[in-house]
Parts: sequence; structure tokens; C-alpha cells
Amino acid sequence: MARFIYNMHRTPLAMYKGFISVRSMLTGPRVVLGIETSCDDTGAAVVDEHGKILGEALLSQIDVHLKTGGIIPPVAQKLHQDNIDRVVKEAIISSGISVNNLSAIATTVKPGMALSLGVGLTYSLNLVKQYKKPFIPIHHMEAHALTARLLHPVGFPFLVLLISGGHCLLAVVNGVSDFLLLGQSLDEAPGESLDKVARRLSLIKHPDCSSMSGGQAIEHLSQFGDRNFCKEIRPMSQHQDCNFSFAGLRNYFNCTIEKMENVEGIEKGAVLSCAADIAASFQHAVAHHIIKRTQRAIVFCKQEKLLPTNASLVVSGGVASNGYIRKMLQNLTDSMDMSLFCPPARLCTDNGVMIAWNGIERLRVGAGILNDPLDFRYEPRAPLGTDISEQVRRASIKLAPLKRKNFL
Ligand code: KG4
Ligand code: ZN
Repeated sequence: MARFIYNMHRTPLAMYKGFISVRSMLTGPRVVLGIETSCDDTGAAVVDEHGKILGEALLSQIDVHLKTGGIIPPVAQKLHQDNIDRVVKEAIISSGISVNNLSAIATTVKPGMALSLGVGLTYSLNLVKQYKKPFIPIHHMEAHALTARLLHPVGFPFLVLLISGGHCLLAVVNGVSDFLLLGQSLDEAPGESLDKVARRLSLIKHPDCSSMSGGQAIEHLSQFGDRNFCKEIRPMSQHQDCNFSFAGLRNYFNCTIEKMENVEGIEKGAVLSCAADIAASFQHAVAHHIIKRTQRAIVFCKQEKLLPTNASLVVSGGVASNGYIRKMLQNLTDSMDMSLFCPPARLCTDNGVMIAWNGIERLRVGAGILNDPLDFRYEPRAPLGTDISEQVRRASIKLAPLKRKNFL
């Protein structure tokens, strides 16, 4: 079964169609319904222009995907189809806002899994048509990047690091839809590597971790492990740019796991006695790689005067809920006169709130609001902003070694 993470449902669903509006469109703040289905979370939320979350619901498919050892796209699609109506209704009912009084409907349309994106888009376009509402198509990574502004007064421009299961990038955010891409992962995202190593460690069989995502399981076990257990490897240390690579790291740790299975004399699929040590070493290697690329991005932005003094680093995406990575980023920003803003874990992972908030941000600046979107298409692959990673590479910035205190 899919799992309801949270909802604020207090009203019977039967009342959905008939309840009385509590806010007049003409006098109240603008209010947006956001819908997220780009991967394996069905999320919806109603947020107003002051950043107040009026209603929200989120249904995670993680229990199903953990059992099958990864996301099977048609399974994710079916679960979105089965649940989207319920999730959206929960969010709307708990908000106390009538659909008629929404200012717009915002939905993730790119990038993501095609079959999953299609469910949210089809559902949203039906609502848009039925209630004659403006439609705001949302770029999933733009939404992750702007979430911090719902909680804190983070002004443009700022630096953003997005680290999730599907994405990894560093960008300067000059405005709501104005991004300069400094670097991105050349192979897989850190969350994907964490999920794969957790799976190879069979952490689903570990009593503490059976219902956790791979990243959560690695973080949990790392508390009990020795991060110096495995040899340190530093991906892309010869490349003086802001791109990332996690596939080699993941491969190295998978080989280490195989070696340790032989040493301990256990079959693939059983949990190693040194699983926590491997988890801690892997978490540290992932964190170190992320910190070094971020350090170079900060130096580049300072050198090129892309950011003001005391600028902000915003970090989001599922992997940003990792406490170890957050702590290292905090030490880095402290030592480089930057402020760190990281949304709470429930807003770092995929959710409807960030989509609704992105809709509000776009409404405020009047960008990308469609009044006749009925043949709108989703885009599984979609770049974010203007790519200046070549300029970063040409700057060829050598980094000072990180001070010991930056490693906790
Ligand atoms: O942003 P998100 O919900 O979905 C994508 O857009 O990818 O991120 C999900 C990813 C998964 O790979 C999951 O293992 C990872 O975020 N994750 C974590 C933690 N919690 C979730 N990674 C590291 N530490 C965590 N505590
Ligand atoms: Zn995401």
C-alpha cells in the first residue's frame, strides 16, 4: 500500500463539491493549488501569497517501490492515478478554500518520469477546464530552488544546490525563472547512488531501516559506523569545475561490499556486520564531493561578482534532508561568509507545497501563466536556466583544502 505521509483532512470528502467559500477572490490574498506527480510522491497543497500553507496532502509510494527494489514507471503511474483525486481533495478541503476561489492551478510538468508527469498534468488540465482557472506549468527544480523563500526572506540573487534522487546541480538564481547553471551531475544523482548502495547493502532487511528510503537508511546507520573504514576516494578531483559524478563512487562501494561479503563469508542479500561502517564511509564520500563542488561554486561567484556580499546558499531536494551533509555545508558557508538556508526535511523531499509556492512566485511576477493550456505537454527532460558550466571550467579554480573543522 502507498503511505499517507500527512494530510490536514478534517472535512468529509462528500462536502468537496458543495462547501462555502471563505475568501473572496477580490479581497483576499492570491491562493494557488499546487500538484506534484513527477516521480513517486503524489502531492497537493493550497498556499497563499503570504506563504501560508492552508492545506496539504502527500502520499508516498515508497513502501511499494522498496519491495520491488526501485521505481517501476507503470507501477508509479498506476499509484498516482489511484490516489491523485483523493490527495488533491484532501488538500483543498483542509484549506477551506473553494476551487472557484483559487487564483490558479500550478502543476509539475518537467522534468520527471513521463508516465508520472502525465497523471498530474491530465488531472490538472481537467480541473483547469472545469473551473476555468489559469494554469501555471512548473519546472520541478525551479520549485525546489524557490521553496526556501516561502520560509525565509531570501532575496535574489542567491546560490542554490539541488541534490535529490533524480537531480544534482549548482546554479545562481537571479529571479523566479532566471537561473545560471554552474554545474550538474554527469552521470547519476546522489540520491540515486545512496538508494543503490543501500539496496546493495540489503538495508531493507535491517530492523531499523525497513521502511526508510535509501538515503535515510544510510544516514541512520552512519551514526553507528566509522567513516574511515573505507579508503577515501575523491571523484573528479582533477576537474576544476562544478560538475558532479557519483557513479564511480557507487561502483567502488559496491565492490567493497562484495569484498566484505567474502571476508565475512555471507551471501549477497544478507546484512554485513560492517554495514554501518560502509554506510558512514559512503555518506562521507558523497558529502565531501558535494562540499568541494559547492566550495568552487562560491569562489567562482565571488570572483565573477555574481552574488552580493553575505550572499545566501539555498540547499534543497531529498538529499538535503541529510543532517551530516547539512552540517558540512553549514561549516562551509560559515567559513565563506555566506548564509545557509535549508528547508525542513518534509519540504526538501517532493511535495505539493513547493509547487503551489512556485505558482505564487510566478503569479507575483506574471511569468508563465496560461489561460488556454488545454493541449499543453509534459517534458521528461528539461534543462534549468542558462548553462555557464563551460565558463566555470575555464576559470579553472584551484581550491584551498577544507579546514579540519569543515569535516565535523
Ligand atoms: O527530492 P526527492 O524527494 O525526489 C526527487 O526529486 O528525486 O528526493 C528523493 C531522494 C531519494 O534518493 C532518497 O534516498 C533521498 O532523497 N533522501 C535522502 C534522505 N532522505 C531522502 N538522502 C540522504 N539522506 C536523507 N536523510
Ligand atoms: Zn525532487
